[in-house]
Amino acid sequence: MKENFTSRLPGFYKKGIKERLETITRLIELSDEEKKLLLNFGNLDPKIADSMIENVIGGMTYPFAIATNFKINNRDILVPMVIEESSVVAAASNAAKMLREGKGIVAIADRQYMIGQIHIVNVTAPRCKALKILEHKDEILDYANQQDPVLVKLGGGAKDLEVRVVETRRGPVVVVHLIVDVLDAMGANAVNTMAEAVAPLLTKITGGNVVMRIISNNAVYRIVRAWARTKPENVGGKDVAERIVWASLLAEADPYRAATHNKGIMNGIIAVALATAQDHRAIEAGAHAYAARSGSYKPLSYWEIDEEGYLVGSLEVPLQVGIIGGAVRVHPIAQIALKIMEVRKARELAEIMAAVGLAQNLAALRALVTEGIQRGHMRLHAKNLAVMAGATGNLIDKVAEIMIKDGKIRFDYAKELVEKLSKGEKI
Ligand code: MEV
Repeated sequence: MKENFTSRLPGFYKKGIKERLETITRLIELSDEEKKLLLNFGNLDPKIADSMIENVIGGMTYPFAIATNFKINNRDILVPMVIEESSVVAAASNAAKMLREGKGIVAIADRQYMIGQIHIVNVTAPRCKALKILEHKDEILDYANQQDPVLVKLGGGAKDLEVRVVETRRGPVVVVHLIVDVLDAMGANAVNTMAEAVAPLLTKITGGNVVMRIISNNAVYRIVRAWARTKPENVGGKDVAERIVWASLLAEADPYRAATHNKGIMNGIIAVALATAQDHRAIEAGAHAYAARSGSYKPLSYWEIDEEGYLVGSLEVPLQVGIIGGAVRVHPIAQIALKIMEVRKARELAEIMAAVGLAQNLAALRALVTEGIQRGHMRLHAKNLAVMAGATGNLIDKVAEIMIKDGKIRFDYAKELVEKLSKGEKI
């Protein structure tokens, strides 16, 4: 950090990418190599990057991988995943192999309906006004639909209205839900535009004050369900299958475990979301809200043994994903990801994501109830250390193996091994 350091940068947003980076290097010591790395946008055109978010000074590349073995709704699918965590792709591929029985993983997405919320405060006789709003339902829906004729023409648009009265510390608030079929979009833009548009109408009807007009990420009308079965021998035998059921029961009984259980599911879902440039925060928010819908935090998936002795898994999660508009439209890699999966509808993408979540969950539980996850993690970690220590080609595996065998998975040891083996010394 330099002496003249300040975070006040008026007009920073108006500059070009290089100019901004120059401004930053006047404040923070960055080497030429570091600047070059930042300015490497990889597969994203800097112009697109600069139009996606504000104050861009560079790009950051994540690995793009393919999870193999997936059979979903009787179709073999290659699943693109983008994630920073090792083992996730391997685990998903591994579990997908166990879930190929019959049609493979069956996944069915519900309607693609999102909720736009309008919060109205200072309403006199709120319960009566709630009904008055419903009396004007057609007019409100009509006005909402005038905001997006294209969506309506394609069969989507505002379909229904719900009104709730919610108690706050300052008294009751009228909450209107505009239920919108967003078809193949994630929906935030369409829904927010409609919610903002109908607000004055609601003010007129209620005599209150609208304070909020925004989509709800608690996407309870956009649920995807996935289920699959596998013979116990595929997971390592009856005993392992039984232990997986125990893992499921523990997640049901213990919210601390449920959070980690669901994190494992989201490892898969978010990796596909990142590969397809989705709003993954919306997906996470929706998933956790859904997990807590009963009032206590629950797992999104369940594992049981069926009457034939098969291990059966089922998962239910809201998935607010789109294949038109937003980043998915402008990021060329997101387009390639959709092409790889041959996805033509938002619901198909949601079905794949739910299936991946279920497989990811099985992989995690199986590892946890058997050898634990550290062994696999450590193998990849050892390889990463070997690469960081300068190993290339066959040397990577060799160095990793020795570190694992010696129980010393550390950077200094990786460096020592790389030096010795590169010189042809015997270990
Ligand atoms: C690690 O990223 C995910 C797990 O913790 C999930 C789980 O515990 O079920 C392995």
